[in-house]
Amino acid sequence: MHSPLLLVLYPLNYHIISYGCQMNEYDSARLAALLELQGWLPVENAEKADMILVNTCSVRAKAEENAIARIRDLKKLKVESGELRVGVLGCMAKNRGESLLKDLPFIDFILGPDEYHKLSEIIHSPLSTLHSPLNPFAKLANNYSAFVAIQSGCNMRCSYCIVPYVRGRERYREAESILREIEVAAAQGVSEVTLLGQTVNGYRYKGLSFAGLLRMVADVKGIERIRFMSPHPKHYTGELLEILLCETKIAPHVHLPVQSGSNSILKKMKRQYSRENYLSIVEALRSFNPLYGITTDIICGYPGETEEEFEETLSLLREAQFDSAFMFAYSPREGTPSALEEELITEDEKKARLQKTIDLQHAITLERARLMVGRTEKILLEKPSRRNPNEWVGKTGNFKKVIVDYSGSAAGTYVNCTIEAVKGHTLCGKIND
Ligand code: SAH
Ligand code: SF4
Ligand code: F3S
Repeated sequence: MHSPLLLVLYPLNYHIISYGCQMNEYDSARLAALLELQGWLPVENAEKADMILVNTCSVRAKAEENAIARIRDLKKLKVESGELRVGVLGCMAKNRGESLLKDLPFIDFILGPDEYHKLSEIIHSPLSTLHSPLNPFAKLANNYSAFVAIQSGCNMRCSYCIVPYVRGRERYREAESILREIEVAAAQGVSEVTLLGQTVNGYRYKGLSFAGLLRMVADVKGIERIRFMSPHPKHYTGELLEILLCETKIAPHVHLPVQSGSNSILKKMKRQYSRENYLSIVEALRSFNPLYGITTDIICGYPGETEEEFEETLSLLREAQFDSAFMFAYSPREGTPSALEEELITEDEKKARLQKTIDLQHAITLERARLMVGRTEKILLEKPSRRNPNEWVGKTGNFKKVIVDYSGSAAGTYVNCTIEAVKGHTLCGKIND
Protein backbone atom coordinates (compact mmCIF):
# COMPACT_ATOMS: atom_id res chain seq x y z
CA MET A 1 0.00 0.00 0.00
CA HIS A 2 2.01 3.06 1.19
CA SER A 3 5.80 2.97 1.50
CA PRO A 4 7.45 4.10 4.76
CA LEU A 5 9.05 7.01 2.88
CA LEU A 6 5.69 8.28 1.73
CA LEU A 7 4.46 7.98 5.27
CA VAL A 8 7.09 10.47 6.43
CA LEU A 9 6.03 12.96 3.78
CA TYR A 10 2.28 12.41 4.10
CA PRO A 11 1.32 11.05 7.50
CA LEU A 12 -1.51 8.57 7.31
CA ASN A 13 -4.49 8.66 9.62
CA TYR A 14 -6.01 5.78 11.54
CA HIS A 15 -9.22 5.43 13.49
CA ILE A 16 -9.97 2.61 15.95
CA ILE A 17 -13.47 1.59 17.03
CA SER A 18 -13.36 -0.64 20.08
CA TYR A 19 -16.09 -2.91 21.46
CA GLY A 20 -16.02 -5.35 24.35
CA CYS A 21 -14.03 -5.57 27.52
CA GLN A 22 -11.00 -3.77 28.92
CA MET A 23 -8.76 -6.37 27.28
CA ASN A 24 -9.94 -5.09 23.90
CA GLU A 25 -9.50 -1.50 25.02
CA TYR A 26 -5.96 -2.36 26.05
CA ASP A 27 -5.21 -4.09 22.74
CA SER A 28 -6.60 -1.10 20.84
CA ALA A 29 -4.45 1.27 22.88
CA ARG A 30 -1.36 -0.83 22.18
CA LEU A 31 -2.08 -0.99 18.47
CA ALA A 32 -2.58 2.78 18.48
CA ALA A 33 0.75 3.34 20.25
CA LEU A 34 2.52 1.12 17.74
CA LEU A 35 0.93 2.74 14.70
CA GLU A 36 1.97 6.11 16.08
CA LEU A 37 5.54 4.90 16.43
CA GLN A 38 5.38 4.22 12.69
CA GLY A 39 4.22 7.76 11.98
CA TRP A 40 0.47 7.20 11.76
CA LEU A 41 -1.78 9.82 13.32
CA PRO A 42 -5.07 9.21 15.15
CA VAL A 43 -8.21 10.93 13.85
CA GLU A 44 -11.46 11.21 15.77
CA ASN A 45 -13.54 11.45 12.63
CA ALA A 46 -13.69 8.09 10.83
CA GLU A 47 -14.34 9.90 7.54
CA LYS A 48 -10.82 11.36 7.64
CA ALA A 49 -9.08 8.01 8.19
CA ASP A 50 -6.90 6.09 5.75
CA MET A 51 -7.36 2.96 7.83
CA ILE A 52 -10.21 2.02 10.20
CA LEU A 53 -9.74 -0.83 12.66
CA VAL A 54 -12.84 -2.28 14.31
CA ASN A 55 -11.91 -4.26 17.42
CA THR A 56 -14.84 -6.57 18.09
CA CYS A 57 -16.43 -8.67 20.86
CA SER A 58 -18.36 -11.96 20.68
CA VAL A 59 -19.45 -12.41 24.27
CA ARG A 60 -23.17 -12.01 23.55
CA ALA A 61 -25.13 -12.04 20.28
CA LYS A 62 -25.86 -8.32 20.72
CA ALA A 63 -22.14 -7.49 20.88
CA GLU A 64 -21.62 -9.10 17.47
CA GLU A 65 -24.74 -7.48 16.00
CA ASN A 66 -23.58 -4.00 17.10
CA ALA A 67 -20.15 -4.47 15.53
CA ILE A 68 -21.57 -5.85 12.29
CA ALA A 69 -23.98 -2.91 11.96
CA ARG A 70 -21.11 -0.44 12.52
CA ILE A 71 -18.87 -2.20 9.99
CA ARG A 72 -21.68 -2.27 7.44
CA ASP A 73 -21.97 1.52 7.87
CA LEU A 74 -18.33 1.93 6.87
CA LYS A 75 -19.04 0.67 3.38
CA LYS A 76 -20.11 4.07 2.13
CA LEU A 77 -16.80 5.59 3.31
CA LYS A 78 -14.96 2.93 1.35
CA VAL A 79 -16.98 3.71 -1.75
CA GLU A 80 -16.25 7.43 -1.37
CA SER A 81 -12.51 6.92 -0.88
CA GLY A 82 -10.77 4.23 -2.87
CA GLU A 83 -7.78 4.42 -0.47
CA LEU A 84 -9.57 3.56 2.79
CA ARG A 85 -8.77 0.18 4.33
CA VAL A 86 -11.07 -1.47 6.86
CA GLY A 87 -9.75 -4.16 9.19
CA VAL A 88 -11.85 -6.29 11.56
CA LEU A 89 -9.94 -7.30 14.68
CA GLY A 90 -10.63 -8.99 17.99
CA CYS A 91 -12.84 -11.79 19.23
CA MET A 92 -15.48 -11.76 16.49
CA ALA A 93 -12.70 -11.77 13.87
CA LYS A 94 -11.50 -15.00 15.47
CA ASN A 95 -14.99 -16.41 16.03
CA ARG A 96 -16.34 -15.80 12.55
CA GLY A 97 -13.13 -15.56 10.51
CA GLU A 98 -13.44 -15.49 6.74
CA SER A 99 -17.18 -16.14 6.97
CA LEU A 100 -17.54 -12.43 7.79
CA LEU A 101 -16.71 -11.72 4.16
CA LYS A 102 -20.00 -13.23 3.07
CA ASP A 103 -21.94 -10.42 4.71
CA LEU A 104 -19.25 -7.76 4.56
CA PRO A 105 -17.23 -8.41 1.38
CA PHE A 106 -15.59 -4.97 1.43
CA ILE A 107 -13.47 -5.76 4.52
CA ASP A 108 -9.75 -5.59 3.66
CA PHE A 109 -8.38 -7.79 6.41
CA ILE A 110 -9.44 -9.87 9.42
CA LEU A 111 -7.10 -10.43 12.38
CA GLY A 112 -7.87 -12.43 15.52
CA PRO A 113 -6.38 -11.43 18.91
CA ASP A 114 -3.28 -13.61 18.40
CA GLU A 115 -2.53 -12.21 14.94
CA TYR A 116 -1.88 -8.53 15.54
CA HIS A 117 1.78 -8.86 14.54
CA LYS A 118 0.49 -9.38 10.98
CA LEU A 119 -0.61 -5.77 10.87
CA SER A 120 3.01 -4.98 9.96
CA GLU A 121 2.66 -6.75 6.60
CA ILE A 122 -0.60 -4.96 6.02
CA ILE A 123 0.77 -1.48 6.55
CA HIS A 124 4.09 -2.39 4.87
CA SER A 125 6.13 -1.19 7.74
CA PRO A 126 7.81 -3.23 10.44
CA LEU A 127 5.91 -3.40 13.70
CA SER A 128 8.83 -5.26 15.19
CA THR A 129 8.23 -3.68 18.57
CA LEU A 130 4.96 -5.60 18.94
CA HIS A 131 6.61 -8.35 20.93
CA SER A 132 9.54 -6.42 22.24
CA PRO A 133 9.93 -5.78 25.96
CA LEU A 134 10.47 -2.12 25.16
CA ASN A 135 6.87 -1.66 24.11
CA PRO A 136 5.44 1.71 24.89
CA PHE A 137 2.80 1.38 27.56
CA ALA A 138 -0.75 1.31 26.36
CA LYS A 139 -1.91 4.87 26.58
CA LEU A 140 -5.59 5.33 27.12
CA ALA A 141 -7.57 8.46 26.37
CA ASN A 142 -5.86 10.05 29.36
CA ASN A 143 -2.33 10.13 30.67
CA TYR A 144 -2.86 9.42 34.35
CA SER A 145 -4.36 5.92 34.22
CA ALA A 146 -3.21 2.84 32.33
CA PHE A 147 -4.38 -0.71 31.71
CA VAL A 148 -1.69 -3.38 31.77
CA ALA A 149 -2.51 -6.93 30.67
CA ILE A 150 -0.77 -9.52 32.84
CA GLN A 151 -2.63 -12.58 31.53
CA SER A 152 -4.16 -13.48 28.22
CA GLY A 153 -6.61 -16.29 27.47
CA CYS A 154 -8.69 -18.28 29.95
CA ASN A 155 -8.63 -21.93 31.05
CA MET A 156 -11.93 -21.92 32.92
CA ARG A 157 -14.45 -23.07 30.34
CA CYS A 158 -17.55 -21.72 32.02
CA SER A 159 -20.32 -23.48 30.13
CA TYR A 160 -21.84 -20.36 28.53
CA CYS A 161 -18.70 -18.44 27.66
CA ILE A 162 -17.00 -17.98 24.31
CA VAL A 163 -13.91 -16.19 25.64
CA PRO A 164 -11.70 -19.31 25.99
CA TYR A 165 -12.46 -20.24 22.38
CA VAL A 166 -11.51 -16.85 20.97
CA ARG A 167 -8.70 -15.96 23.35
CA GLY A 168 -7.08 -19.35 23.78
CA ARG A 169 -5.29 -20.92 26.76
CA GLU A 170 -4.04 -18.89 29.69
CA ARG A 171 -0.66 -17.31 29.32
CA TYR A 172 0.98 -15.19 31.99
CA ARG A 173 3.23 -12.32 31.10
CA GLU A 174 6.74 -12.17 32.57
CA ALA A 175 6.77 -10.14 35.77
CA GLU A 176 9.81 -8.15 34.57
CA SER A 177 8.00 -7.01 31.45
CA ILE A 178 4.86 -6.05 33.41
CA LEU A 179 6.89 -4.02 35.89
CA ARG A 180 8.87 -2.32 33.13
CA GLU A 181 5.63 -1.29 31.41
CA ILE A 182 4.31 0.14 34.67
CA GLU A 183 7.57 1.96 35.40
CA VAL A 184 7.54 3.57 31.93
CA ALA A 185 3.92 4.58 32.44
CA ALA A 186 4.64 6.00 35.92
CA ALA A 187 7.64 7.96 34.61
CA GLN A 188 5.24 9.59 32.13
CA GLY A 189 2.82 10.65 34.84
CA VAL A 190 0.50 7.66 35.18
CA SER A 191 -0.49 7.15 38.83
CA GLU A 192 -3.33 4.64 38.50
CA VAL A 193 -2.80 1.21 37.00
CA THR A 194 -5.35 -1.53 36.31
CA LEU A 195 -3.98 -5.04 35.88
CA LEU A 196 -6.01 -7.05 33.38
CA GLY A 197 -6.74 -10.72 32.82
CA GLN A 198 -9.82 -12.97 32.54
CA THR A 199 -8.91 -14.64 35.83
CA VAL A 200 -6.36 -12.04 36.82
CA ASN A 201 -5.80 -13.27 40.38
CA GLY A 202 -4.78 -16.71 39.08
CA TYR A 203 -1.54 -15.04 37.87
CA ARG A 204 1.63 -16.97 38.55
CA TYR A 205 5.11 -16.64 37.19
CA LYS A 206 8.26 -18.45 38.37
CA GLY A 207 6.95 -18.90 41.90
CA LEU A 208 5.49 -15.40 42.04
CA SER A 209 1.78 -15.24 42.93
CA PHE A 210 -0.72 -12.53 42.13
CA ALA A 211 -0.36 -11.23 45.68
CA GLY A 212 3.43 -11.10 45.19
CA LEU A 213 3.01 -9.20 41.93
CA LEU A 214 0.66 -6.68 43.60
CA ARG A 215 3.32 -6.08 46.23
CA MET A 216 5.90 -5.32 43.52
CA VAL A 217 3.54 -3.01 41.63
CA ALA A 218 2.86 -1.12 44.86
CA ASP A 219 6.61 -0.47 45.12
CA VAL A 220 6.82 1.25 41.73
CA LYS A 221 7.58 4.92 42.30
CA GLY A 222 4.68 7.17 41.25
CA ILE A 223 1.98 4.50 41.39
CA GLU A 224 -0.70 5.59 43.86
CA ARG A 225 -3.72 3.47 42.98
CA ILE A 226 -3.80 -0.15 41.89
CA ARG A 227 -6.88 -1.85 40.46
CA PHE A 228 -7.33 -5.21 38.75
CA MET A 229 -10.00 -7.05 36.80
CA SER A 230 -11.51 -9.54 36.62
CA PRO A 231 -10.54 -11.76 39.51
CA HIS A 232 -12.16 -15.18 39.94
CA PRO A 233 -13.63 -16.21 43.33
CA LYS A 234 -11.71 -19.48 43.11
CA HIS A 235 -8.36 -17.69 43.41
CA TYR A 236 -9.03 -15.73 46.62
CA THR A 237 -6.25 -17.07 48.81
CA GLY A 238 -5.53 -15.96 52.36
CA GLU A 239 -2.32 -14.37 51.06
CA LEU A 240 -4.32 -12.33 48.56
CA LEU A 241 -6.92 -11.18 51.08
CA GLU A 242 -4.14 -10.13 53.42
CA ILE A 243 -2.46 -7.86 50.89
CA LEU A 244 -5.76 -6.46 49.64
CA LEU A 245 -6.58 -5.34 53.15
CA CYS A 246 -3.10 -4.15 54.19
CA GLU A 247 -1.67 -2.44 51.12
CA THR A 248 -3.24 1.01 51.03
CA LYS A 249 -2.28 1.60 47.39
CA ILE A 250 -4.64 -1.18 46.32
CA ALA A 251 -7.99 0.51 45.80
CA PRO A 252 -10.78 -0.83 48.04
CA HIS A 253 -12.89 -2.05 45.12
CA VAL A 254 -13.25 -5.33 43.34
CA HIS A 255 -15.25 -6.35 40.28
CA LEU A 256 -16.02 -9.95 41.19
CA PRO A 257 -18.47 -11.61 38.77
CA VAL A 258 -20.83 -14.01 40.54
CA GLN A 259 -23.20 -14.83 37.62
CA SER A 260 -25.86 -16.55 39.76
CA GLY A 261 -26.90 -16.97 43.38
CA SER A 262 -28.04 -20.56 42.93
CA ASN A 263 -25.66 -23.42 43.69
CA SER A 264 -27.30 -25.70 41.13
CA ILE A 265 -26.94 -23.09 38.37
CA LEU A 266 -23.36 -22.27 39.42
CA LYS A 267 -22.62 -25.97 39.10
CA LYS A 268 -24.16 -26.17 35.63
CA MET A 269 -22.17 -23.07 34.67
CA LYS A 270 -18.99 -24.82 35.89
CA ARG A 271 -18.04 -21.78 37.93
CA GLN A 272 -16.14 -23.84 40.54
CA TYR A 273 -17.43 -22.04 43.63
CA SER A 274 -20.62 -22.07 45.67
CA ARG A 275 -22.83 -19.24 46.81
CA GLU A 276 -21.35 -19.73 50.31
CA ASN A 277 -17.73 -19.53 49.02
CA TYR A 278 -18.57 -16.33 47.21
CA LEU A 279 -20.32 -14.71 50.15
CA SER A 280 -17.41 -15.54 52.43
CA ILE A 281 -15.16 -13.34 50.25
CA VAL A 282 -17.71 -10.51 50.43
CA GLU A 283 -17.82 -10.96 54.21
CA ALA A 284 -14.01 -10.85 54.52
CA LEU A 285 -13.77 -7.61 52.52
CA ARG A 286 -16.73 -5.84 54.11
CA SER A 287 -15.96 -6.81 57.69
CA PHE A 288 -12.63 -5.09 57.22
CA ASN A 289 -14.16 -2.08 55.45
CA PRO A 290 -17.97 -1.81 55.25
CA LEU A 291 -17.61 0.58 52.32
CA TYR A 292 -15.38 -1.76 50.33
CA GLY A 293 -16.72 -1.43 46.75
CA ILE A 294 -17.91 -4.73 45.31
CA THR A 295 -19.38 -4.88 41.82
CA THR A 296 -20.42 -7.94 39.85
CA ASP A 297 -21.83 -9.53 36.69
CA ILE A 298 -25.13 -11.44 36.64
CA ILE A 299 -26.62 -13.69 33.95
CA CYS A 300 -30.41 -14.07 34.00
CA GLY A 301 -32.26 -16.96 32.38
CA TYR A 302 -29.50 -19.57 32.03
CA PRO A 303 -31.01 -22.68 30.32
CA GLY A 304 -33.24 -24.49 32.78
CA GLU A 305 -33.09 -21.76 35.46
CA THR A 306 -36.22 -22.25 37.56
CA GLU A 307 -38.15 -19.49 39.27
CA GLU A 308 -36.67 -20.65 42.62
CA GLU A 309 -33.13 -20.59 41.26
CA PHE A 310 -33.72 -17.11 39.90
CA GLU A 311 -35.05 -16.00 43.32
CA GLU A 312 -31.76 -17.19 44.82
CA THR A 313 -29.92 -14.71 42.61
CA LEU A 314 -32.17 -11.93 43.92
CA SER A 315 -31.53 -13.04 47.50
CA LEU A 316 -27.79 -13.08 46.84
CA LEU A 317 -28.01 -9.49 45.56
CA ARG A 318 -29.72 -8.50 48.82
CA GLU A 319 -27.18 -10.33 50.93
CA ALA A 320 -24.05 -9.18 49.08
CA GLN A 321 -25.20 -5.53 48.75
CA PHE A 322 -23.26 -4.93 45.56
CA ASP A 323 -22.31 -1.35 44.80
CA SER A 324 -23.34 -1.94 41.21
CA ALA A 325 -23.67 -4.74 38.68
CA PHE A 326 -23.63 -5.50 34.99
CA MET A 327 -26.70 -7.61 34.35
CA PHE A 328 -27.30 -9.65 31.21
CA ALA A 329 -29.93 -11.93 29.72
CA TYR A 330 -28.36 -15.26 28.84
CA SER A 331 -27.26 -15.36 25.20
CA PRO A 332 -26.39 -18.77 23.71
CA ARG A 333 -23.02 -18.77 21.94
CA GLU A 334 -22.47 -21.38 19.28
CA GLY A 335 -19.66 -23.77 20.18
CA THR A 336 -20.10 -23.46 23.96
CA PRO A 337 -21.54 -26.41 25.93
CA SER A 338 -24.61 -24.54 27.19
CA ALA A 339 -25.65 -23.65 23.62
CA LEU A 340 -26.52 -27.33 23.21
CA GLU A 341 -29.04 -27.16 26.03
CA GLU A 342 -32.61 -26.55 25.12
CA GLU A 343 -33.86 -23.11 26.12
CA LEU A 344 -37.22 -23.52 27.79
CA ILE A 345 -37.36 -20.00 29.18
CA THR A 346 -38.99 -17.64 26.69
CA GLU A 347 -37.25 -14.42 25.62
CA ASP A 348 -40.01 -12.46 27.40
CA GLU A 349 -39.46 -14.37 30.63
CA LYS A 350 -35.70 -13.84 30.37
CA LYS A 351 -36.27 -10.12 29.88
CA ALA A 352 -38.70 -10.03 32.82
CA ARG A 353 -36.12 -11.70 35.09
CA LEU A 354 -33.45 -9.29 33.88
CA GLN A 355 -35.70 -6.31 34.59
CA LYS A 356 -36.47 -7.56 38.12
CA THR A 357 -32.75 -7.96 38.74
CA ILE A 358 -31.99 -4.49 37.41
CA ASP A 359 -34.75 -2.90 39.54
CA LEU A 360 -33.54 -4.56 42.71
CA GLN A 361 -29.89 -3.75 42.07
CA HIS A 362 -30.68 -0.10 41.29
CA ALA A 363 -32.29 0.27 44.70
CA ILE A 364 -29.25 -1.35 46.36
CA THR A 365 -26.84 0.83 44.35
CA LEU A 366 -28.69 3.87 45.63
CA GLU A 367 -28.51 2.69 49.25
CA ARG A 368 -24.79 2.04 48.91
CA ALA A 369 -24.29 5.52 47.44
CA ARG A 370 -26.18 7.12 50.35
CA LEU A 371 -23.76 5.50 52.81
CA MET A 372 -21.04 7.71 51.32
CA VAL A 373 -22.73 11.02 52.27
CA GLY A 374 -20.78 12.97 54.90
CA ARG A 375 -17.51 11.16 54.27
CA THR A 376 -14.20 12.66 53.25
CA GLU A 377 -12.83 10.89 50.20
CA LYS A 378 -9.70 11.19 48.12
CA ILE A 379 -10.79 11.33 44.48
CA LEU A 380 -8.83 11.19 41.24
CA LEU A 381 -10.06 13.98 38.94
CA GLU A 382 -10.82 12.58 35.48
CA LYS A 383 -12.59 15.10 33.26
CA PRO A 384 -15.07 17.98 33.19
CA SER A 385 -18.68 16.85 33.32
CA ARG A 386 -20.56 16.95 30.03
CA ARG A 387 -23.06 19.52 31.27
CA ASN A 388 -20.82 22.04 32.93
CA PRO A 389 -17.07 22.63 32.35
CA ASN A 390 -16.73 23.93 35.92
CA GLU A 391 -17.91 20.61 37.30
CA TRP A 392 -15.49 17.72 37.24
CA VAL A 393 -15.94 13.99 37.54
CA GLY A 394 -13.62 12.10 39.84
CA LYS A 395 -13.45 8.57 41.27
CA THR A 396 -13.18 7.44 44.84
CA GLY A 397 -10.99 4.50 45.80
CA ASN A 398 -14.13 2.35 46.03
CA PHE A 399 -14.91 3.24 42.42
CA LYS A 400 -17.73 5.71 42.82
CA LYS A 401 -18.16 8.69 40.57
CA VAL A 402 -18.18 12.06 42.33
CA ILE A 403 -19.07 15.42 40.77
CA VAL A 404 -17.24 18.40 42.29
CA ASP A 405 -17.04 22.11 41.47
CA TYR A 406 -13.59 22.67 40.01
CA SER A 407 -12.44 25.29 37.56
CA GLY A 408 -8.87 24.06 37.00
CA SER A 409 -7.75 21.73 34.24
CA ALA A 410 -5.59 19.22 36.07
CA ALA A 411 -6.92 15.81 35.05
CA GLY A 412 -5.13 13.15 37.02
CA THR A 413 -4.77 15.08 40.29
CA TYR A 414 -5.97 13.71 43.60
CA VAL A 415 -8.08 15.97 45.79
CA ASN A 416 -9.84 15.45 49.09
CA CYS A 417 -13.52 16.17 49.06
CA THR A 418 -16.55 15.86 51.31
CA ILE A 419 -19.48 13.94 49.86
CA GLU A 420 -22.60 16.09 50.31
CA ALA A 421 -25.42 14.45 48.37
CA VAL A 422 -26.50 11.76 45.93
CA LYS A 423 -28.08 12.87 42.63
CA GLY A 424 -29.35 10.04 40.48
CA HIS A 425 -26.69 7.42 41.18
CA THR A 426 -23.87 9.94 41.28
CA LEU A 427 -22.29 11.46 44.35
CA CYS A 428 -21.86 15.22 44.65
CA GLY A 429 -18.95 16.53 46.67
CA LYS A 430 -17.11 19.68 47.66
CA ILE A 431 -13.33 19.93 47.44
CA ASN A 432 -11.78 20.59 50.87
CA ASP A 433 -9.29 23.46 50.99
N1 SAH B 1 -13.58 -13.38 32.90
C1 SAH B 1 -14.63 -12.70 33.50
C2 SAH B 1 -15.82 -12.41 32.61
C3 SAH B 1 -15.62 -12.13 31.15
S1 SAH B 1 -17.07 -11.98 30.17
C4 SAH B 1 -15.09 -13.58 34.64
O1 SAH B 1 -15.21 -14.77 34.52
O2 SAH B 1 -15.35 -13.07 35.66
C5 SAH B 1 -17.97 -10.69 30.97
C6 SAH B 1 -19.32 -11.09 31.44
O3 SAH B 1 -20.16 -11.38 30.34
C7 SAH B 1 -19.38 -12.35 32.29
O4 SAH B 1 -19.02 -12.13 33.61
C8 SAH B 1 -20.82 -12.79 32.13
O5 SAH B 1 -21.63 -12.22 33.13
C9 SAH B 1 -21.21 -12.23 30.77
N2 SAH B 1 -21.39 -13.30 29.79
C10 SAH B 1 -20.44 -14.13 29.30
N3 SAH B 1 -21.00 -15.01 28.43
C11 SAH B 1 -22.33 -14.72 28.38
C12 SAH B 1 -23.45 -15.29 27.69
N4 SAH B 1 -23.30 -16.33 26.88
N5 SAH B 1 -24.67 -14.74 27.89
C13 SAH B 1 -24.84 -13.68 28.73
N6 SAH B 1 -23.82 -13.12 29.40
C14 SAH B 1 -22.58 -13.63 29.25
FE1 SF4 C 1 -15.48 -16.81 30.48
FE2 SF4 C 1 -15.45 -18.13 32.74
FE3 SF4 C 1 -13.15 -17.53 31.56
FE4 SF4 C 1 -14.62 -15.61 32.67
S1 SF4 C 1 -13.64 -17.32 33.75
S2 SF4 C 1 -13.66 -15.55 30.67
S3 SF4 C 1 -16.70 -16.29 32.30
S4 SF4 C 1 -14.70 -18.91 30.79
FE1 F3S D 1 -13.56 -9.30 25.85
FE2 F3S D 1 -15.68 -9.69 24.36
FE3 F3S D 1 -13.43 -10.80 23.71
S1 F3S D 1 -15.66 -9.59 26.53
S2 F3S D 1 -12.29 -11.10 25.58
S3 F3S D 1 -13.84 -8.62 23.78
S4 F3S D 1 -15.41 -11.76 23.57
